[in-house]
Amino acid sequence: MSETIGVAVVGAGGWGKNHVRNFASQRGASLRWVCDRSEAALAPVTRAWPDVKTTTSIDDVLADEGVRAIVIATDAPTHHDLAKKALERGRDVLVEKPLTLGASTSAELCDLAERGQRILMVGHLLLYHPAVERLKQIVDSGELGEVLYVTSQRTNLGVVRRDENAWWSLAPHDLSVAAYLLGAEPESVSASGGVFLQKERGIEDVVFATVRYRGGKLAHVHVSWLDPHKTRRLTVVGTKKMAVFDDASPDMKLTLFDKGVEPPPAALTYEQGVRIRTGDIVVPALKMAEPLGRETEAFLEAVRTRVPPLASGRSGHAVVRVLEAGQRSLAEAGRRVDIGL
Ligand SMILES: NC(=O)c1ccc[n+]([C@@H]2O[C@H](COP(=O)([O-])OP(=O)(O)OC[C@H]3O[C@@H](n4cnc5c(N)ncnc54)[C@H](O)[C@@H]3O)[C@@H](O)[C@H]2O)c1
Repeated sequence: MSETIGVAVVGAGGWGKNHVRNFASQRGASLRWVCDRSEAALAPVTRAWPDVKTTTSIDDVLADEGVRAIVIATDAPTHHDLAKKALERGRDVLVEKPLTLGASTSAELCDLAERGQRILMVGHLLLYHPAVERLKQIVDSGELGEVLYVTSQRTNLGVVRRDENAWWSLAPHDLSVAAYLLGAEPESVSASGGVFLQKERGIEDVVFATVRYRGGKLAHVHVSWLDPHKTRRLTVVGTKKMAVFDDASPDMKLTLFDKGVEPPPAALTYEQGVRIRTGDIVVPALKMAEPLGRETEAFLEAVRTRVPPLASGRSGHAVVRVLEAGQRSLAEAGRRVDIGL
């Protein structure tokens, strides 16, 4: 029987309350504290789980030696300070995406975790989605051929944020999946966006970004919280087949298209010999499980085994580097910005 891990969740707002629910019912974990600077966010926690202690200060959490692992699900601008504090006090930490709001601070957290031999995980939820896991197996098996590019749309009406734009809020999901599937280093990003709702704060509501990876692969990311459609779609185009991950679909989360374009034999011109191929469309059966539940298990497993999880701090840092370069590109009217080393 493995040990029970004492856990605290910091931030019990719209998303944090899902972590609270998960850890409160997770085998192998004991939720000891929920911390939120707003008493109003804590009240429902006390009603549902009277045995879980609540506080408005992370210092109470850090003073409890029974807490080994801390989940930070607060607003993005607070991630760095809270995670740093927790790591410095020897805790393993899961930080919601984006890991931080800058590459230097996300690198600092990774260094701190590595020096202190702490687990640092980032909430790149989709890496724990059964459809993404299956898609990765399909990509790695070579069934799609060489993956050429990925294109994604993540749109909805709301949630409109005040402290971060649609790029920082929504794109971490797509960028983490693109990096996972392409398996290549991002080299540059070019992003254009529109500021419509909060002109005084200059916050982009919609962003169209193109990320270029080593070896010529591409990802195009369209994110918006000002759109009539709730879209959660990622398309992978390979030389042999194509695949679509549609998280908004109830029963066709993953679809494989036996479609492609075959170049002409050497003796023929392109017009004479090019062949468009359209074959079967297959919807693989998936064993569905809540991605957040799987993320929770992965965090506890990493805490137990001391092996960094798939959504490691370093993968969070890699995404922040793309986000930061994209932000510079946004500010410079879509100029192609190198991501650097
Ligand atoms: N993985 C996902 O799919 C997903 C989905 C939604 C949100 N998120 C992420 O989760 C985080 C929180 O988002 P949200 O929608 O819950 O925001 P929210 O504004 O609803 O909640 C944030 C909560 O954090 C609390 N808080 C802020 N600073 C604090 C501090 N210093 N100490 C204690 N509590 C503090 C606030 O009082 C609030 O209750 C963000 O990083 C967001 O990007 C992730």
